[in-house]
Amino acid sequence: MESIRVSVTNIMEFVSYDEFEQISPTLNDAHKQLLSKTGKGNEFLGWLDLPSGIDEPIISDIENTAKKLREIAEIFVVIGIGGSYLGARAIIEALKHNFDQLLPHDERQKPIVIYAGQNISEEYLSDLLDILEKRDYAISVISKSGTTTEPAIAFRVLKSHLETKYGIKGARERIVAITDKSKGALKQLSINEGYKTYVVPDDVGGRYSVLTPVGLLPIAVAGFSIRDLIKGAAVMQKKLSENTDIHSNPAFLYAAARNMLYQKGKFIEVFVNYLPNLYYLTEWWKQLYGESEGKEGKGIFPAGVINTTDLHSMGQYIQEGERKIFETVLSVGNSKKELLIPKDGSNLDKLNYISGKSMLWVNGMAETATTLAHIDGGVPNIKIRIPEVSEFHLGELIYFFEFACALSGYTLGINPFDQPGVEAYKKNMFALLGKPGFEKETTEINKRIGNM
Ligand code: PA5
Repeated sequence: MESIRVSVTNIMEFVSYDEFEQISPTLNDAHKQLLSKTGKGNEFLGWLDLPSGIDEPIISDIENTAKKLREIAEIFVVIGIGGSYLGARAIIEALKHNFDQLLPHDERQKPIVIYAGQNISEEYLSDLLDILEKRDYAISVISKSGTTTEPAIAFRVLKSHLETKYGIKGARERIVAITDKSKGALKQLSINEGYKTYVVPDDVGGRYSVLTPVGLLPIAVAGFSIRDLIKGAAVMQKKLSENTDIHSNPAFLYAAARNMLYQKGKFIEVFVNYLPNLYYLTEWWKQLYGESEGKEGKGIFPAGVINTTDLHSMGQYIQEGERKIFETVLSVGNSKKELLIPKDGSNLDKLNYISGKSMLWVNGMAETATTLAHIDGGVPNIKIRIPEVSEFHLGELIYFFEFACALSGYTLGINPFDQPGVEAYKKNMFALLGKPGFEKETTEINKRIGNM
């Protein structure tokens, strides 16, 4: 079966073949450290073996729970933030109909999956309650630590709403908690309330957790095949772990290319795709690379555009702004539906020269035209090609990006599995909110803002 291909042809005006050879030993070391679990952050390498190691009983259990939830809920609310929701959302949005919620009832995804706990907007949650008041729903609350403020607030609000609407027992059947196996407030609450729970393994960090129940349960509830997703990831696991040749291991190639470009001052990577339903895949990718690499004053800044939409906004900057950018284009070979451009008798729009051509073909031409223009404008271009958007290929892609991110982080010399910087805002927020235990910080921060 066709698989992911990485092409670096369009960075060769900016780096030399010799440089590839020079970086190759570093990639080999990174690969060794990763697979022997001897590198930085090696206590968080559980994701490496997830595709081949996941047990049949857990897959069946997730599928059964999803089936029950699909029967009782018109809406399924996924409560989580960062790595606890972006992976599921990336896959679900990539696979679903672009206008799913506008389809007739019997044709649309059931349940509709929506998200909460990824912001603290009063209006967002109030608007959500307006909807949930009128529809049958169920929720999964996902938090590895079980203490993150945003999902905790959303869960408190929706739990109370569910209990009022369905009673304590009815609510219990509509709540699934996904959290640590033994610690955290959510774990304790789940024990007290008797919720169905799934475990986020200790050795898997949030942004690497798509192939645990964190991603798998919402994806299964949305009606997509978690088996195919895992199969794709398992194929990629084998491919990336067995091959140490920089030219044929796609993760080596991607990690090498982006690090070489970074060394040449290209410190912004723009992830480009041409399909609007891949918006959340970009968001997931941004989190994976941004949170993994941005530390110790180092790291490539991950940004994203959806073309051709953004060619009419950010396209100007990419073409002619500061030359610190390189692009990684996700190129998709096939579309699920064909739409041909019709012939028009009057041809006032002068489009008859492309009548009979598919939109896929035209989009492909836009991609090639843009790539060439950007190379001419001094923007190197890495291309990652997948045959189509399907569970299998998304599984491959998820694992590919995780593996390449780990190699890339080790090449950069940082720990790609921690996120110490995320704590800074939390400390200030707790101080401002007056959380017990933060009294000293509250006094200090009040003084500081008094002087502002
Ligand atoms: O990747 C990460 O580790 C983070 O983005 C976390 O997933 C995010 O902060 C949510 O944490 P938790 O699942 O503990 O609520």
